[in-house]
Amino acid sequence: MIRIGLIGYGRMGKLIHEISEDNDVKITQIFDPNEHNILSSNSNLSDVEVFIDFSTPEKLFANAEIILKKNKKLVIGTTGWYENLGKMENLCHKYDSGIIVGGNFSVGMNAFYEIINYASKLFNKLNDYDVYGWEQHHSGKADSPSGTAKEISSIILNNIERKTIAQFDKLDRKIKPEELHFASIRGGRISGIHNVQFDSPFDTLTLNHSAKNRQGFAIGAIEAAKWLSQRKGFYMYKDIFKGIYNL
Ligand SMILES: NC(=O)c1ccc[n+]([C@@H]2O[C@H](COP(=O)([O-])OP(=O)(O)OC[C@H]3O[C@@H](n4cnc5c(N)ncnc54)[C@H](OP(=O)(O)O)[C@@H]3O)[C@@H](O)[C@H]2O)c1
Repeated sequence: MIRIGLIGYGRMGKLIHEISEDNDVKITQIFDPNEHNILSSNSNLSDVEVFIDFSTPEKLFANAEIILKKNKKLVIGTTGWYENLGKMENLCHKYDSGIIVGGNFSVGMNAFYEIINYASKLFNKLNDYDVYGWEQHHSGKADSPSGTAKEISSIILNNIERKTIAQFDKLDRKIKPEELHFASIRGGRISGIHNVQFDSPFDTLTLNHSAKNRQGFAIGAIEAAKWLSQRKGFYMYKDIFKGIYNL
């Protein structure tokens, strides 16, 4: 059983703890200000192999440096900091360690990425179809748009040549043809809904992924930690998930 340390003991951290034994990992350390346990360079991390971080972006880099310096690996589920991905990759190489970053650890969502990839390649040639998306999350979500919405948008932009820029803001004007609109709605207790629609004068196709709960994210992060325990390097979860599940 690999030994896991948790950074952040909110909704995700607690759920990972709850399902850990059933998924063949052991939680040996928990760092969260609400648990009166803050990670510092003096923390003894000898009983941890891989850390899983579901916290907030503020201390992400400081915590990552402490972890990597002590030769531990790190799975990062925290979102809202991806403008600094390059900095995190450099940190990983500096300490010759291992990091997996995942904006969405659910297997279903990563399969959804593949479906969107295929669909947008197809609709690239079908000029009658416009494309856009929207996402919904619970009222407690701190960042907007979701990391998943950004990922879906970048898959579409990579494939549909007539769309060149994602537009996540509220528009007080007409959308330009080259803009891909992706809207965010916050409210209620929704674990995460993402929709992509292809619309023509003749019909509408809607691709939808709805998370029923947070368990898919928690299991995905645990499986990623097991995979990483045997490896070094910097990985995006979406690029390795097929390998993790032998797809
Ligand atoms: N990648 C995925 O699959 C996925 C899935 C779900 C959520 N997420 C992301 O994961 C993050 C956490 O989500 P959540 O729903 O679990 O949030 P949450 O319930 O708010 O939990 C975050 C916890 O981390 C604590 N925290 C803040 N700063 C910390 C630090 N420096 N060190 C250790 N703990 C710290 C928070 O304490 P305070 O209350 O004192 O701030 C809180 O207890 C968010 O960024 C969310 O978007 C990702």
